[in-house]
Amino acid sequence: MSLSNPVYASFRSIGAYVPQKILTNSDLEEMVDTSDEWITKRTGIKERHIAADDEYTSDMGAKASQKAIDRAGISKDDIDLVICATVTPDYFNMPSTACIISDKLGIKNVQAFDISAACSGFVYLLSIAKAFIESGMKKNILIVGAEKFSSIVDYTDRGTCILFGDGAGAAIMSATHDKSESMIDIHASADGSYADFLMTPAPGTVHPVSQQVIDEGLNFVQMKGNETFKLAVKTLTKDVIEILENNHISSEDIPHFIPHQANYRIIKAVGDALKMREDQVVLTVGKYGNTSAASIPMAINDIYESGRLKYGELMLLDTFGGGLTWASALLPFAGKTIES
Ligand code: COA
Repeated sequence: MSLSNPVYASFRSIGAYVPQKILTNSDLEEMVDTSDEWITKRTGIKERHIAADDEYTSDMGAKASQKAIDRAGISKDDIDLVICATVTPDYFNMPSTACIISDKLGIKNVQAFDISAACSGFVYLLSIAKAFIESGMKKNILIVGAEKFSSIVDYTDRGTCILFGDGAGAAIMSATHDKSESMIDIHASADGSYADFLMTPAPGTVHPVSQQVIDEGLNFVQMKGNETFKLAVKTLTKDVIEILENNHISSEDIPHFIPHQANYRIIKAVGDALKMREDQVVLTVGKYGNTSAASIPMAINDIYESGRLKYGELMLLDTFGGGLTWASALLPFAGKTIES
């Protein structure tokens, strides 16, 4: 790397995959004691997509990745690192889902690994990609957020099963010397003292697979919904205020505010606190529910495919998830504008 000609990380393309099967609120009315009215009012979610039994996190991740590779106008052979953020990997210990995605795409002899940061996973990936690229170690990185969240949801627990869905999103991060295409800022953080707000107790070293795990349903996601809600609004708002202030940018100047899609009420509260207009806030939670690490790239893909996201436009990402983890990023879209 030369100091006179520095290298920057740019967000070069986006792709997503959504499984075919739809689980609507009225379907859930048949499964647990709930109603479309309650779910809509408390969360804004109307439906979510659910992967087929034989459709795995890596399948969804590979499909989203292929789109991102094609749209970046590069070959799979140009990719020198593959990282996947997921809390629903194909296999809980090994191999990593990133290795399987690489194999499905025919990407050979390239470093590949997973990270676990729950719903903050995709923005965490951006920070890792930035570090690898700007240190000169890598040039084209495939980052993937993919989740088969339905595999860890207890469909008898009305407090959680209404929220989550499956899907995948992927992006290519590339090296550039053009500063106008560079990621402007990124901030990622965590506080493990809130670990029990949102967790899947098993399998792991605390609770290896056992009859007790099955009997007590410890393999399913558990959540303190109300506490998570309050902390999410506070953290998401604070994070955005800081990143905007640090970079002397006003919230009015953000064309695309893309928050983690967990709950419409959380997004509305954060948007209002930041004085965002409705047209600035990207909303996909109604049709996808919360897809964890896939939520933000699926939302970016939505505005890309609808022609709303154009080359050079600023995106403000803001996320929050199990860990607890949180992260925000300010970056221009450096991919080709879709042709309408
Ligand atoms: N249908 C009907 N009633 C339900 C219900 C459902 N699906 N889920 C919970 N309830 C009931 C509760 O049992 C409770 O009943 P009670 O008053 O008789 O005890 C009542 O609704 C209120 O429950 P509460 O948990 O206080 O509701 P809430 O307004 O906090 O909404 C969530 C629940 C889960 C929608 C909300 O807390 C939330 O979205 N939290 C954030 C979750 C999140 O984003 N997690 C992921 C972070 S990445």
